[in-house]
Amino acid sequence: MSRWAAAQNIDELRALAQRRLPRGLYEFVARGSEDEVALRHNREAFEAIKIKPRALVDVSQRSSATTLLGRAHALPLVVAPTGAAGLLWYQGETALARAAAQAGVPYVLGMSSITPMETVRRACDGALWFQLYLAPEQASSDAMIDRAKAAGFDALVLTVDTVVQPNREYNTHNGFSVPMRLNRRNALDFAAHPGWLLGVIGRYLAAGGMPRFENYPPGLRHSVSARQRERWAPVKRNEAATWAALAQVRERWGGQLIVKGLGCAEDALAALNAGADALVLSNHGGRNLDSAPSPLQVLPAVLSAVHGRCPVWLDSGVRRGSDVFKALALGAQGVWVGRAALYGLAAGGYDGAARSLALLAEELDRCMAYAGVREAAALGLANLHPG
Ligand SMILES: Cc1cc2nc3c(=O)[nH]c(=O)nc-3n(C[C@H](O)[C@H](O)[C@H](O)COP(=O)(O)O)c2cc1C
Repeated sequence: MSRWAAAQNIDELRALAQRRLPRGLYEFVARGSEDEVALRHNREAFEAIKIKPRALVDVSQRSSATTLLGRAHALPLVVAPTGAAGLLWYQGETALARAAAQAGVPYVLGMSSITPMETVRRACDGALWFQLYLAPEQASSDAMIDRAKAAGFDALVLTVDTVVQPNREYNTHNGFSVPMRLNRRNALDFAAHPGWLLGVIGRYLAAGGMPRFENYPPGLRHSVSARQRERWAPVKRNEAATWAALAQVRERWGGQLIVKGLGCAEDALAALNAGADALVLSNHGGRNLDSAPSPLQVLPAVLSAVHGRCPVWLDSGVRRGSDVFKALALGAQGVWVGRAALYGLAAGGYDGAARSLALLAEELDRCMAYAGVREAAALGLANLHPG
């Protein structure tokens, strides 16, 4: 049996990912920013909530199905955008998109991804959303919006929580930077992981060259190891942008628009007023502002401010089906998963990612049975232990 198939939970997939990936890349995925307070706190917030067990309820028929943006899905899950997927596995974005489609959930392709969006779209017949950061030049953002529209993406996700580059000190220690530069330290790290080196970088080289950020506009489509830092405009964000930019994005895109990375009720209202169709509360998985609250803490205030006018989803720290249960019971309509899917991908490509999603689905279903719940869509505060 493959190792990923034997993994019984997301943490076991994480351990397999750690073994297969170079340390610099693994830490880039798994760790948080600064003192990793937000990273730990995200887990503590989930663990502090208890589910109310209910006995002798007929739970012989259970359904985790839900509707997101008017489309039926098998699970209240979304695979979150993560720029690194294509470095964990050759064309990892395609593998993730196919695994998401197979599980019946949407996949969000990040703009900082490696595989061209058209390739991902062709490989996946499920719901596909495209994620955008606001670039310093509006023309760059516009070009990516137009391209995603032409490629047939179903919704646009605007991420608003990364206005400056985050402080992740271990990346510097590991010699892991964007763009990647080969030095003695990371060269040894790569050489110590030949499966990854040959299976990922080797395959890109055989197919034409070092992986590039294929979804940026033409002049910015550098390889992940481009030399000149001053040419490295893609990692820059528009630090001057205000909510007016959201209205521009809304108009250019014309379709369903999701705003991701909200951390307070004021911003949730601002996003809604600027035309968002759905909101994602997130602290970027504890990777940005280390003193940010957990999205679970923010959820009640946001729900009362938004007052049912649009769906509210959250991410950051989801590792178990019970976490999905808790978020839904607190009023989120769905939950996004970043690392949970990436660990499966790094451990076993498409099959590993599919295993991650299947594990979360099984765990959610089991919690529902223990809690006497037949439909995930009907979860509410009454399903949690008070206090
Ligand atoms: C390696 C990595 C890369 C990420 N890249 C992006 C990105 O390009 N765009 C984005 O909106 N969010 C990005 N995120 C954040 C995820 O979309 C998501 O908010 C976060 O992973 C949720 O936390 P979790 O990993 O605990 O599930 C990234 C996260 C990780 C772990």
